[in-house]
Amino acid sequence: MARRGTRRQPIAKSRDELAAMREAGKVVAGCLDMLAGLLVPGVTTAELDGRAEEYIRDHRATPSFKGLYGYPATICCAPNDVVVHGIPDAQTVLREGDILGIDIGARMDGMHADMARTLEVGPVSERARRLIDKTRGALEAGIAQAVEGNRVLDISRAIQAAVEGAGYSVTRELTGHGIGRRFHEPPSIPNFVEPGQFPDDYAVRLRRGMALAIEPMVAEGDYRLVRDPDRWTYRTADGKLSAHFEHTVEVTRAAPRVLTLPGRPEPKAADEGSGAAGNGDHAS
Ligand code: MF3
Ligand code: CO
Repeated sequence: MARRGTRRQPIAKSRDELAAMREAGKVVAGCLDMLAGLLVPGVTTAELDGRAEEYIRDHRATPSFKGLYGYPATICCAPNDVVVHGIPDAQTVLREGDILGIDIGARMDGMHADMARTLEVGPVSERARRLIDKTRGALEAGIAQAVEGNRVLDISRAIQAAVEGAGYSVTRELTGHGIGRRFHEPPSIPNFVEPGQFPDDYAVRLRRGMALAIEPMVAEGDYRLVRDPDRWTYRTADGKLSAHFEHTVEVTRAAPRVLTLPGRPEPKAADEGSGAAGNGDHAS
């Protein structure tokens, strides 16, 4: 989301709301896996967008991004120097050696899930692969801090340390966010710590049942960004590569629960009695 701190308090979720977010999370994760299989040289980002929308609707969910603040598509596509919010189009043809960040959101039973991953088109440079690995690692480091009693600051600090420790920089202009019945909820989750910048967000004490979209956006070079005339696409100002990974995570007492992982759909309440019972895949 765009950088803006918030003084509002995070909204804790009920067990049912978290269960719905987990179902939405399965849809976005499955969709991303499906798209990864389509990433061959010659495919356009518009084709990926069409397939993503079809997949989400086929799974009884709705694309979260379409229409949000006027955004025109189901996914965001961020090739190479694009950091986030690239709009899919028929002119963007992927080539071998490209990297592509894909960001997807879906809503089910009124609850959103948000996820992003940077993928490789054919073999990519060692340089690109390292950036991708370190960005994924920074997300994992941030997720590990999403436990009750910590503060948002702990997530921000862990991400920044992982990124800068690898010799990269984190985006300042964009942050992660709370998520739930609305796509962007408090708190903002910056990927860096800077005194005086997001005091109310950093201070937020994490409680079980909160849901957070944690999303490091990492630049190979300088963190400064420029925005295209379309007012959506953010690129690195220096033209170097960028990568982006995101999961929607439920804060728990000990082991944060990633909601955006593939899985078999749970039967809806109305379908129950057909054999399948709960299998431990519920909010704790
Ligand atoms: N995952 C992105 C975010 O958190 C979604 C942006 S596109 C939007 O900002 F239009 F939906 F905002
Ligand atoms: Co997000």
